[in-house]
Amino acid sequence: MIQFIHVYKAYSPGYYVLMDLNLHIRKGEFVFLIGPSGVGKTTFLKLIYREELPTKGEILVSGFNVRVLPNHRLPLLRRKIGIVFQDFKLLPYLSVFDNIALVLQILGYPYTYIKQRVCELSEQLDLKEKLKTKVSNLSTGEKQRVAIARALAHQPPLLLADEPTSNLDAKRSIQTIDLFKELNKLGSTVIVATHNRDLANFVPSARMLEIGKGKIKAKIS
Ligand SMILES: Nc1ncnc2c1ncn2[C@@H]1O[C@H](COP(=O)(O)OP(=O)(O)OP(=O)(O)O)[C@@H](O)[C@H]1O
Ligand SMILES: [Mg+2]
Repeated sequence: MIQFIHVYKAYSPGYYVLMDLNLHIRKGEFVFLIGPSGVGKTTFLKLIYREELPTKGEILVSGFNVRVLPNHRLPLLRRKIGIVFQDFKLLPYLSVFDNIALVLQILGYPYTYIKQRVCELSEQLDLKEKLKTKVSNLSTGEKQRVAIARALAHQPPLLLADEPTSNLDAKRSIQTIDLFKELNKLGSTVIVATHNRDLANFVPSARMLEIGKGKIKAKIS
């Protein structure tokens, strides 16, 4: 599903955030990308959804070579991916309902399905009372739960979640990981970037990728 082949990423010449990364994440894997702040977790995810281009090397995602993917074909890649952004990237002046529904509307789902799916997610993420609330009026943890619901809405074949539980209490963090596990059971690949390695305890079968000093290594435990 995802292959990194001799991938280097530098934001400024000579300063490599990621160096000679080679890895293969297979369809249906549940992966934790673990490492301290500033080590390159978000950068790694951005390379997958082509927000950033590699300085060197090839990245294959779901059959696309992202380095040479022309802009007009980018939506074909992006619609296969659900992303929980570290900074949420919600539309602040729209309601919770509209934020969660947006991707489904863009993908052309019928309104009755959209309504049912948004209600289902809002129940799972304790947002039912907030559906009509403008996102700008939510607490940070509530915003994070909207971002999670939005990423899950179209049951993407690939879920990228960047510190998805950083603002959630323990109970809601576990609920979130359980939702990711449900999606994973349907066959989707899930990648969770976090500095909180305790999260991985809730997914015993998950693969741990440790990132540090520009390198990623698989942890054998
Ligand atoms: N657009 C950018 N321009 C220049 N440097 C950047 C840019 N984005 C990230 N960096 C640098 O690259 C390094 C890795 O950043 P990144 O955001 O990938 O780390 P992270 O592991 O996600 O950190 P955190 O856990 O704090 O979210 C950092 O040193 C950061 O300052
Ligand atoms: Mg980050």
